[in-house]
Parts: sequence; structure tokens; C-alpha cells
Amino acid sequence: MSRRQGNPARRLAESGSLPFGGSVHTKSRSSPLLSIGLVVVGAILLVVYCYSGSGGRISEREAFSKVEGSGSCTLEVQKAIPILKKAYGDSMLEVLHLGPDTCSVVVKLLKEEKTEAWGVEPYDLDDLDANCKSLVRKGIVRVADIKFPLPYQAKSFSLVIISDALDYLSPRYLNKTLPELARVSSDGVIIFSGYPGQRKAKVAELSKFGRPAKFRSSTWWIRYFLQNRLEENEAAAKKFEQASVKRSYKPACQVFHLKSYH
Ligand SMILES: *[C@@H]1O[C@H](CO)[C@@H](O)[C@H](O)[C@H]1NC(C)=O
Repeated sequence: MSRRQGNPARRLAESGSLPFGGSVHTKSRSSPLLSIGLVVVGAILLVVYCYSGSGGRISEREAFSKVEGSGSCTLEVQKAIPILKKAYGDSMLEVLHLGPDTCSVVVKLLKEEKTEAWGVEPYDLDDLDANCKSLVRKGIVRVADIKFPLPYQAKSFSLVIISDALDYLSPRYLNKTLPELARVSSDGVIIFSGYPGQRKAKVAELSKFGRPAKFRSSTWWIRYFLQNRLEENEAAAKKFEQASVKRSYKPACQVFHLKSYH
């Protein structure tokens, strides 16, 4: 909490000090007015800081309820579990989910018969409920920066599912992260990502995720997969599609099915 709260304030102070630093240089010898000016500007900064502090917290909470609400692809993963089971069958035995609020997905997956599940939370774990705390304590859910190699051996999981996370990575990091997902899985990688224009990044999200989400079009993704020799799993995509139609399920996010490395 305190770290995130600190960020906007720091940014504010930095941007505030730039023009101000210039004026110190030009007028430094002249006037007592300067020190009065300093006090006034300081007071203004303080007021703005306090104001943005409290305002920031509110919008932050809004952003979180949004992440947990209907716009979230992590929630979409939970809804899609029965469809994924139809499409992937026995490949749903050992599943790794990566994304914010991963505990919610892991809990849901663990309720499925014959499915073992693990989770990687790419950002801070805060506001943990008791369920999630116990998953972390058991090592089933862990925090890891997905921009770096994942702490798992090759083919540790049958399936890897990622949601609400790749949208925050630039192509430079996607180039590292996506091959990692293909490496630690044996039967496929499933990507849940937002549609372009679906959700606007909020200031609070910026401080949580480091950069605004960039929701890319399916054309962008498909071209990206091709360029990086990530093969789409057409058979799984087709089964997923069929199962979706059968159950009148319409994903609110884009869903891509990739093959693992062999
Ligand atoms: C990502 O990888 C692709 C294919 O190897 C390459 O063409 C592209 O320049 C890379 N992008 C970045 C930002 O490194």
C-alpha cells in the first residue's frame, strides 16, 4: 500500500521541481521575494500533494474493483474453465496460471477433479484473503516478475494460462516472456488479453503495473506470433471455439492458443 501511495507523490514532486529549479538559478542572488516564493510554492505543492494523496487512493480502489470486475480477463479465465476442459481434456492435469489475482483462478482450478494448479502473481500480493495466504505459504502461488526467466524447469506444466499480464509488457519483454511460457509448458499456452479500447489505464494502474496496458488487436498478436515462431495451436483453438458455441459462451477477452516448445 505505502509504496504505491508514494509513487504519484514522487512523480508530482519531480515534475514540480523542474521549472522551479530553473528559477532558483536565475534569481538566486536577487531577492527576499524568492524565499517567500519558495514558501508559497512549497505550500501549494503540499496542498496538491495531500489532495492527490487522498484522491489517488480512491481512484486506486476503483481501478482494483475494475480489475476484479467484469473487465478482467483473469475473471474470464475462471468462467472459461469448463470450456478449456472440453478443449484440452487431459492436458488440464497440471496447470500454471499467471496473472493478477491468480489465487482466484488457482482456487477454482483446484476444485476441478484431477486438476493440479499453481499460480504466479506478477505484481504485489496485497489484500490477501486467508485462502490465498495459505496457497502462498504452501508454495502453490508465488510472486515472480514475468519479465525474467520463470523459476521452473522445462515442461513443468501441461498447460500455461496467462491473463491481464502480457498487455502490460512491451514487445521487448514479450520477446522474453512468451518463449518462457512455451518452455515451461508441454501441451500449450493460452493467452487471455484485452480487446483494443476495452479499458483505459488509470493513474493507479500505472503505479501498479509500471506502464499502461496496451490492448493489441488480434492482427497484431497473430503477426507477432508468426515473427517469433510461436505456433498457434489450431486444433485446440477449434475445440475451444466449438465448446464455446455449444455452451453459448462468449469470451469478453481475446483468447489465443499457442503450442509449447518441443
Ligand atoms: C522481438 O523478436 C523479433 C523476432 O526475433 C524481432 O524481430 C524483434 O525486433 C524483437 N523485438 C524487440 C523489441 O526486441
